[in-house]
Amino acid sequence: MQQNRLQPNLDPFSLARELSGKLLIDGAFTPAISGRTFANVNPATGAVIGEAAEGEATDVDAAVGAAQRAQMTWAKLSSRERGKLIAECGRMLNEHVEELGRLVALETGKALRTESRVEASILADVFAFFGGLGSELKGETVPFRPDMLTMTVREPLGVVGAIIPWNVPMMLMALKIAPAMVAGNTVVVKFAEEAPFAVLRACQIMNQILPPGVLNILSGMGPECGGPLVAHKGVRKVTFTGPVETGKIIYKAAADKLIPVTLELGGKSPMIVMNDADLAKPIDGAVAGMRFTRQGQSCTAASRIFVQEDIHDAFVERLRARVDAMKMGDPLDEMTDIGTIVSPQQLEKVHSYIRLGEQTTGMHAIACSQLPTDEELKKGLFVRPVIFTGATNESRIAREEIFGPVTCVIKFKAYEEAIEQANDSEFGLAATIWTRDLKTALDAIQRLEARFVQVNQNLVVTSNLSYGGVKNSGLGKEASLEAMLEQLMARAVIS
Ligand code: NAI
Ligand code: MG
Repeated sequence: MQQNRLQPNLDPFSLARELSGKLLIDGAFTPAISGRTFANVNPATGAVIGEAAEGEATDVDAAVGAAQRAQMTWAKLSSRERGKLIAECGRMLNEHVEELGRLVALETGKALRTESRVEASILADVFAFFGGLGSELKGETVPFRPDMLTMTVREPLGVVGAIIPWNVPMMLMALKIAPAMVAGNTVVVKFAEEAPFAVLRACQIMNQILPPGVLNILSGMGPECGGPLVAHKGVRKVTFTGPVETGKIIYKAAADKLIPVTLELGGKSPMIVMNDADLAKPIDGAVAGMRFTRQGQSCTAASRIFVQEDIHDAFVERLRARVDAMKMGDPLDEMTDIGTIVSPQQLEKVHSYIRLGEQTTGMHAIACSQLPTDEELKKGLFVRPVIFTGATNESRIAREEIFGPVTCVIKFKAYEEAIEQANDSEFGLAATIWTRDLKTALDAIQRLEARFVQVNQNLVVTSNLSYGGVKNSGLGKEASLEAMLEQLMARAVIS
């Protein structure tokens, strides 16, 4: 096995062709049963880079069957042994960081230096983290009766269906499947139409280590491939990241089978900047939090920035200058800060919100950075980041998830007003407060209706922090030991 190990291929174009038309079921590449494929396009040039297999219900059957057959044996390994194999996956993935970073940059348009390479190393790190938790699947003893020893043991759920989006496909896949497998479940992943190759390659790398059938991966359309996966009677848990509407469809389908779900849905995350904040920090925080380097394609994007009146104008000016200095260009170019939007549909959605904001009375659009002028990028899905000023929390720009490089700055007078408006949203995912006053910070932590609240920083989700939202932002938690125990295992009582 050692000699035949996959070697990193740093040419993402050839890798995309090599991975074309394939599903990964029971440890082997296979085409979709129908033989159908659909084109994947480089969003920076409009050129076709490969074809993804178009899996449907029959392919789902094959993948779930393989996962069911593998699950008994996998669950019988000691949890420590499973953890070791998952950690070994992390080590292998680490050898492929550059390769995977280049591939995800090519297919999604996310810049290599600022986003894609970073995502590839997070992928490897998530496997290293969960691989170390194999011994932590502990149960409890229950003081039920003095003459009886009563305890709980944790058991896997069975086959887990994981449906992932395209914005950070490798990281979001990792946060779902690494803990699921350590817990003794086997997995069928359905990846997003827009980002097929990097996740497929990552699973190919891991299948060098994992027993066949433990990790299967499907591609296909949402309703025709994701739908049958959720509905399949062999799937005992579904975990999904994506938009609210699809989350609700999945929740209803899972309810029909009475299986548990974890849903990580949208956001409209508020960032509250108080007059006393040290201005350099929230400027950095807004750039990082808004994920301008990812074209704002993030569920935690700081897309509602409440700034207290005394510092409002200075804040807007400094934020504009910072975003303006970012370089848009070829995602694979090391000099590029900002790449492209993922798809023409998504670009049109972003443009429609920019038009809407421009037409809204009182709102003013500040477009930053410059579109690239290179001839080969002229069909690229580039859009200039926009900061809207003069926005109110009632405007659609402030209420709806845009999932693009569009943020709005809302001026406020008093702290109470900011908290009230921050909470006046259908979402409740992330929130930040920027102040030097400890009392204000502690108050905000308690009152902001979000499950990922930070003070004077805007970090991204990372393993070891329980992550998940309230309201329309979803159900359940991911990324931590507790999430693995509570969301991916069941407790059995033994007396
Ligand atoms: P989508 O819901 O079509 O796709 C997300 C995933 O769900 C894909 O893997 C897709 O194949 C699958 N899916 C779609 N319909 C399904 C169904 N009926 N049953 C099972 N699986 C299904 O979302 P799309 O088109 O990629 O994005 C639409 C909008 O959603 C974006 O404009 C953005 O606003 C938001 N979005 C939010 C994300 C988040 O992290 N919260 C991630 C991606 C998109
Ligand atoms: Mg869609």
